[in-house]
Amino acid sequence: MLITRHEEARAVLSDIRYVPPPVRQDAPEGTLAWLRARVSRFSTGAAHAERRRLVTELLAALDPGALRSAARAMTLERHGDWQGVPTAVLGRALGVDDAAKLVAAVEAASTGYLSGVVGPEADAGVAELVRLLPGEEAETVARVCVLLQAHTAIAGLVGNALAHARPGDTVEALLHETLRQDPPLKATRRLDLRTGDEVVIDLVAANRDPDVFPEAARFDPARGETPHLTFGYGVRPCPAPAHALALAAGVLDALPEES
Ligand code: HEM
Repeated sequence: MLITRHEEARAVLSDIRYVPPPVRQDAPEGTLAWLRARVSRFSTGAAHAERRRLVTELLAALDPGALRSAARAMTLERHGDWQGVPTAVLGRALGVDDAAKLVAAVEAASTGYLSGVVGPEADAGVAELVRLLPGEEAETVARVCVLLQAHTAIAGLVGNALAHARPGDTVEALLHETLRQDPPLKATRRLDLRTGDEVVIDLVAANRDPDVFPEAARFDPARGETPHLTFGYGVRPCPAPAHALALAAGVLDALPEES
């Protein structure tokens, strides 16, 4: 089933009878499939609650304002070459100083993190991340999960925002409207526990629902913050919208308006 309306999307995302499609549970330790079986993103019930608690605790120790300044400084240091900057800044905040190693490992692992397409490169990326972030298994998994959730989504947000940027837009207004009108994540999936059917929530369509957003197709930074669903909703929304916005804003702060 495909959900395209804003109200229906919110109802599904708020209903515990819809869960993320289950992932393989018996994969060898240190592989991408092993990681996917342990992160909050793909778990349900008590395991989800505990894993989400760990992630939320970890995020509470990271100050979005400091992340924004650090992302700006690193982008300036790299003369505007911003790819990898949000992940390097997040990694440093989580205790990893070797930015090149970290970003390469995240890059390798994040391709299949959401899709579930696994392979030796992705497995090697996860193994490297586990080495770079040593500790109790659940804490290491939470830190790796945060890096993988952040990497592609923030890069997509910055890239899409740059494509829409016009002189005079504030960074915040540009990011809010990019999140609504041109989101980096286009859809999310659920399994209906009652019927076994897969439900696809089309975030682009829900964010352009004419009942909620007037002239929904038009990119208009003057809208300010809107009730878009790009960070999810309900039972398991993204726990890090402030961190995501701060990292993206820090990069944009450092780029000239015409870039
Ligand atoms: C533009 C950037 C981002 C977008 C659009 C985004 C979007 C989302 C969405 C839609 C979900 C929920 C998926 C679902 O309900 O099926 C989610 C979950 C999550 N996000 Fe984000 N995210 C972004 C950045 C980040 C960042 C920067 C972090 C961490 C620093 C992060 C950490 C997480 C985690 C840990 C979850 C899983 C939460 C759970 O299942 O309990 N995200 N994100």
